[in-house]
Amino acid sequence: MTKHKCINVALGDRSYDIIIGCKLLDEAGILIKPAIRGERIIIITDQNVAPLYLNTLKLSAEKEGIKVKEIILPAGEQTKSISYFEKLIDQILALKIDRKVALVALGGGVIGDLTGYVAASILRGIDFIQIPTTLLSQVDSSVGGKTGINSKNGKNLIGAFYQPRLVIADIDVLDSLPQREILAGYAEVVKYGLINNSEFFIWLEEFGLELCAGNKEYRQRAVLKSCSSKAEIVAKDETEQNMRALLNLGHTFGHALETETGFSNKLLHGESISLGICLAFDLSLLLELCSKSDAVRIRNHFSAVGLPTYLSDISDIDWDANTLLNHMLSDKKTENGKLNFILVKGIGKSFIAQNINPKNVQIVIEQANQQR
Ligand code: GLY
Repeated sequence: MTKHKCINVALGDRSYDIIIGCKLLDEAGILIKPAIRGERIIIITDQNVAPLYLNTLKLSAEKEGIKVKEIILPAGEQTKSISYFEKLIDQILALKIDRKVALVALGGGVIGDLTGYVAASILRGIDFIQIPTTLLSQVDSSVGGKTGINSKNGKNLIGAFYQPRLVIADIDVLDSLPQREILAGYAEVVKYGLINNSEFFIWLEEFGLELCAGNKEYRQRAVLKSCSSKAEIVAKDETEQNMRALLNLGHTFGHALETETGFSNKLLHGESISLGICLAFDLSLLLELCSKSDAVRIRNHFSAVGLPTYLSDISDIDWDANTLLNHMLSDKKTENGKLNFILVKGIGKSFIAQNINPKNVQIVIEQANQQR
């Protein structure tokens, strides 16, 4: 087995390991074997990932005596829907499974979220394993048990907290990702530094550019740090009653921006988080919670790697502060019409801020639309 790192998500009898390293796909069978109850797995993947990695994973599992079936779904957000949820369940049940079978999600957030929710639902819950193939899913969506699908009424409105039995993050698979996707994932990496770890942010300021350019040692270190931050938070607050909400830094703004762009390729989730974090710092600055130099430093870092930091960086979109505000007011995280944000008292000092005056939100949106 090649050199890899392991982080445990401590959740009692639902605890599990996140294994992080290079060439892990070749050795996935050895890792999966002790994590499953039976000897069968069903790999769920998509049409983009299957040609690249399905065979390697399959051979590695079969080498350990695991019986493997696979289901290949279309790639893209539309697969995270009720109709694919139903189709996938029917395909799995047609394979005559028992409760000892495990699903293995091989892909990005769409495949991981859908597979996890199907695993939570089928036969009242079967095991599942996450093998995330994007930076974003390695550092965020594959860890912590948020599973689900989209509804016509909004993103991720149907779902369950359902933890995987194992997460395998192979750093090598990131080589096949388009650079835009690497950067989108990187925004979530930076988020961990800003939430509660200023040292990590300082490290990213020094090594982030090389990380984004392909340095594997730095990528592995960043995935490790991000996952250990998330594991610690999830172990303390699995169902987001309080501190897990810190992981939503930049998401209230970001989600409104994504709603406006129809969750399309015009703005990737991670790009909306880069903008959303900048706006969260702007709002913190306006409320005199953080210093101007902190807000500038965040923008400088995101723009140095090539992420958007002003709304005007996203071309062909006419952002309107009122419309964005309305999206925020109808967000599932808004309670009784009160706007809640994760704000900061500085880098690494985030907190939950409740009942923010909408006027201040409008001001920072308007500023970010004009400035350059
Ligand atoms: N992506 C935020 C969370 O898992 O809580």
